[in-house]
Amino acid sequence: QRRVRVPHLQAKKTKGEKWAMLTAYDMYAAEIFDEAGIPVLLVGDSAGNNVFGFETTVPVTVDHLVPLTRAVATATSRAMVVADLPFGSYQASPQQALATATRFMKEGLAHAVKLEGGKPMVPEIELLVRAGIPVMGHIGFTPQSEHVLGGYRVQGRGDGAERLLEDALALQEAGCFAVVMEMVPAPVARKVTEALTIPTIGIGAGPDCDAQVLVWQDMAGLRGGKAPRFVKKYADLRGELGRAAQDYAREVASGEFPSAEQSFES
Ligand code: KIV
Ligand code: NA
Repeated sequence: QRRVRVPHLQAKKTKGEKWAMLTAYDMYAAEIFDEAGIPVLLVGDSAGNNVFGFETTVPVTVDHLVPLTRAVATATSRAMVVADLPFGSYQASPQQALATATRFMKEGLAHAVKLEGGKPMVPEIELLVRAGIPVMGHIGFTPQSEHVLGGYRVQGRGDGAERLLEDALALQEAGCFAVVMEMVPAPVARKVTEALTIPTIGIGAGPDCDAQVLVWQDMAGLRGGKAPRFVKKYADLRGELGRAAQDYAREVASGEFPSAEQSFES
């Protein structure tokens, strides 16, 4: 089967077909989600707090994400693989953005990149698109700016709604093929989705976006502690994996593992 590309996602919007995106950071998750038919996989800088053990996405670097992107791209045959541009790797200039995105395309084998921000990012987006790199936007709550935004907060309330719409339209005009909206009131996300011809992808943005995205460890119940309100847990991998580890340790202690079945004869 052929790779999902920009026109396929555009066609889904035209037909009113909703679709799901997930993050992926490694081979097996990528392979499983690809086989499950998830059309777009994001190698998110959420690797910061889901793979590398940071508290935020701010410390994540290009060197962190390039090998993960390459693993995800190599393990998939159908999904479009989108690489997140990390904090500080694209905001300085369109040239910096192009150099970073080029690394993700060449070394990471990504099919597209994602970057955070509205209108101010238009020059960066325009250069990437001119160079042939599909760009996914990301507005609303943008985790790379959480120190300015004052933590995880809903964006686009009150006066913010009009600004959000203007940002979304600016991203579309600049050539983005899709835009993520994070933690935005559902009615505002709906209005933006109706105003745009490109797909919107919601996370904490209500049911009316063209697509949804979740961090896979949240979706599959691997993370510990309290998940954000916008998360729905579809499995309990944390419980399952914990039980497996305990069973294994118990059988090693009791001498039950390895048995003859797992041993080699002379
Ligand atoms: O890094 C990430 O996982 C993201 C998605 C939640 C959109 O940016
Ligand atoms: Na991200």
